[in-house]
Amino acid sequence: MAVEDRPHRSRRATAITALTVLAGIAVAVLVAIWALADPDDDPLAPVYAVWQDDLVPLIGRYWPAAPRQPLNWEAQSLDIPGADPARGRQLIAENGCGSCHTIPGVANARGSVGPNLTDFAERAYVAGILPNRPGDLTSWLMQPTVHAPDTAMPDLGLTEDEARDMAAYLYTLGDAR
Ligand code: HEC
Repeated sequence: MAVEDRPHRSRRATAITALTVLAGIAVAVLVAIWALADPDDDPLAPVYAVWQDDLVPLIGRYWPAAPRQPLNWEAQSLDIPGADPARGRQLIAENGCGSCHTIPGVANARGSVGPNLTDFAERAYVAGILPNRPGDLTSWLMQPTVHAPDTAMPDLGLTEDEARDMAAYLYTLGDAR
């Protein structure tokens, strides 16, 4: 049986080899045409055109599109590049802000002299006078008496970096982001 099978099997092997060689030659010819062609006159241009104009839109129609995440500009506008909210929280504790303000996440910050800062990120204004945006909030924290000369909130001599870190922490409070 094995003897009878052998010629059959070897014929098939020859056919496969021949097909492989032919396929190789076909690819080589295509590559040569492509390589030798004038770059301005790409022989494969019609293929690309069909791909681009017909196949891509067709595939696109049936491929489930990733749901678009609308950019949350409100949240983005509260980003303070390079600021460290964890350090800000620590600075808020060290500077005694909690003696006048109630501030979630800061130990013993239960003061009621100034506004409660729970959900502060959702507030539209700082102290009712400045837009609640990173630059204005930072400026308020550094020099409240410049913005509101009669305010009870003292200038605490914060550096800009300290104020930015504190602002970054205050923007974690509430649902604005
Ligand atoms: C002596 C009390 C006192 C201290 C200390 C104090 N604040 Fe204030 N703060 C106030 C008062 C009063 C206001 C309200 C100001 C106004 O409306 O004129 C205020 C306003 C604010 C506001 C604006 C709040 C809003 O709802 O618009 C922020 C933010 C703030 N303080 C953060 C801080 C931080 C951070 C510190 C610590 C670095 C601090 N405060 C220290 C009394 C204080």
